[in-house]
Formats: sequence, C-alpha cells, structure tokens
Amino acid sequence: MSKDERYQLLTEQIRSLIEGETDGVAVMANVAAAIHETMGFFWTGFYRVLPKAQPQGSGKGDTELVLGPFQGPVACIHIPFGRGVCGSAWQQKKSLVVPDVEQFPGHIACSSLSRSEIVVPVYSPEGEVVAVLDIDSKELATFDDTDRRYLEAICGLLGDKI
Ligand code: SME
Repeated sequence: MSKDERYQLLTEQIRSLIEGETDGVAVMANVAAAIHETMGFFWTGFYRVLPKAQPQGSGKGDTELVLGPFQGPVACIHIPFGRGVCGSAWQQKKSLVVPDVEQFPGHIACSSLSRSEIVVPVYSPEGEVVAVLDIDSKELATFDDTDRRYLEAICGLLGDKI
C-alpha cells in the first residue's frame, strides 16, 4: 500500500474515531495511537498550549507547550514559545518538516535516536494555536509534503475538540 493510501485510510479511521467526541485528551490519545500504529513512527504525540505553572513567562504571555497524549518513549514535558521544532511551529503558526534534527538550531533532543521530525499546529476555530502534533523518526528525511498535507488535514479535524 502506498503512503498516500495508508494516509487516506488513516484519515477515515480518525474521522470515525473522533466523531461526536468532545473530550480533548481522549481524542488526542486515540489520534496519536492511530497515527503511530498505522504509520510505524518512532514517537507520535501532542503538546498543548497551557498556562505556565510559574508566573515568570516571557514572550507569549504565560503559556508554554506541555506534553499531552503520545505514543513512544518518554519525552520532555515543557517546551517554551519559539524553542525547538515544536516551539518554532507554534511561534511561526505553520508546519515544520525537519529532515535532519541536528541541522535545526535549538532542536530539543528528547531522544538521541530521533533523526528527523514533522510538527503540525492545531488551531482553534478562532485561529489560535492550541496544540502541536509532533512526530519523530529514527531515520533521516522521513517526512515530506505528503505527510504534511495529510497530517494538516487530520489536525484540522481536532481544533474544536482540544
Ligand atoms: N524534538 C522536539 C521536542 C519534542 S520531542 O522530540 C518528543 C522539538 O525540538 O521541538
């Protein structure tokens, strides 16, 4: 089966998994699991934009990215606005495809096994970033425009639920 076909089936599976569901954590948990199992990635999960525990924020009010539901090895819990691939995708409000994480300035290495990654923002109906979907691979240059397109469509289904 081609990557396109796998993503088409995955998108349909996710549509029915989340239909009528309103709990954001449950939705993110099943979406992460569905993507991870179908595509065989190394790490698949969400970081949510949440208020910081300490009132010492800078840059983006008092919010930061906090680890949400994921599949794979344990990961960093807090990511500041503009830091790493996740924080940069949040800041730039766009998907980032990174073929070699060692070439990305400020990349946050949660696992030394991660070699390439894609991060896709999830937007609220008002257009604010409420979370990012982060996917890591153990191989270089795993992600391309096909991944970006389908993962953006999947994240587009989630914005009003997170
Ligand atoms: N690599 C990410 C950090 C999160 S972990 O990979 C799960 C980044 O630089 O944003």
